[in-house]
Amino acid sequence: MSDIHDTATELFTELTGRTPDGLWSAPGRVNLIGEHTDYNDGFVLPFAIPHRTVAAVGVRDDGIGRVRVASTFAAEPVEVALDELGTLFPTLRQAQGTSSQGKPAVPEWAAYPLGVAWALAEAAGAAGAGIDIAIASDVPVGAGLSSSAAIEGATASALNDLWNAGLDKTALARIGRKAENEAVGAPTGIMDQMASMLGEPDAAIFLDCRSLEAQLVPLGVAEAGLAILVMDTRVKHAHSTGGYGERRAACERGAAIMGVPSLRDVSVGDLSRAETLMDDVTFRRVRHVVTENQRVLDTVRVLREQGARAIGDLLVASHASMRDDFEISVPELDTAVEAALSAGALGARMTGGGFGGAAIALIEADAVATVSDAVNAAFAASGFAAPHLFTVTPSAGAQRDA
Ligand code: GLA
Repeated sequence: MSDIHDTATELFTELTGRTPDGLWSAPGRVNLIGEHTDYNDGFVLPFAIPHRTVAAVGVRDDGIGRVRVASTFAAEPVEVALDELGTLFPTLRQAQGTSSQGKPAVPEWAAYPLGVAWALAEAAGAAGAGIDIAIASDVPVGAGLSSSAAIEGATASALNDLWNAGLDKTALARIGRKAENEAVGAPTGIMDQMASMLGEPDAAIFLDCRSLEAQLVPLGVAEAGLAILVMDTRVKHAHSTGGYGERRAACERGAAIMGVPSLRDVSVGDLSRAETLMDDVTFRRVRHVVTENQRVLDTVRVLREQGARAIGDLLVASHASMRDDFEISVPELDTAVEAALSAGALGARMTGGGFGGAAIALIEADAVATVSDAVNAAFAASGFAAPHLFTVTPSAGAQRDA
């Protein structure tokens, strides 16, 4: 058990005066390639990272149907009646015609676990017994590493067991996404939740976001003498506001112009026709998604045929497409990618939704210090705050730990 397991257990005991019934955890993720393709029914290739969120959870012994949640993110716990969960969140209140300021009626951190409790009760047909939840995490927040999917995965796994809901991992990922979309109000796809639920050591998850069929693709990073360096720019982002939703809308517009249900149905060969049909900005958004889907398929093939050492150029092309066509990079991300490549990285790209957060670099295992020094120096030279640099290994997905 790690420090976060201890922290979650202590927080639970402070909250309730007793020990939890169990500990469940779920990881953050890095996306190796396939960005902004998930909500276009396309392909992604993420892996789970060692950083995890732990939920210490227990069924309440007072027979009261309430859910109480505490977290190291906030001083005060939040407590809600299970049968009132549906009235809390903005999209639900809109559907009911009651007023909405577009913000959840609970603090945002609490909307993740409470949204999961609500969505899981709906999926299972009913909520189970009243429940206490204490959450601790070492997934960096706002870094594009899916700290929110980690909270959702840990909470969903715990409630699935304690409420005997019997849902499988894909169903739990859907519940996490529903919480994110409808309780928190971030219009994201399902990649992060699937990665957090399905992660396996030393493998990436090749996910078809239309069928939700997932295949594990061995990465063999360490065997190839390589390492994956995360370069968290510390530029914070949030997907419940602004640019993410605009990009999503541009993709829907592009698909409508092409007369297809989603951009998954547009191939690289269709792009010259697409260019004649739409304005320049919409076309570039479409071109990113269409070429990115192809890059995921190419990366999977290259990994299987040649191994991790051969995927560098695909990572670099993906970054360029996000920077120039999808326009979701920021100067700090470009600086990290360029500095890593100049210092000898085989490939590098921003990862996650963009507008801040982290980039990754595929580097020689013995070059961690050299590349880190180069990235730190480039940030200092540009007048940026120091980045947070660390290596990650593909790790296990959501599980019960105790
Ligand atoms: C965020 C979202 C995901 C996905 C990525 C971009 O992480 O949560 O669903 O859209 O951005 O690939």
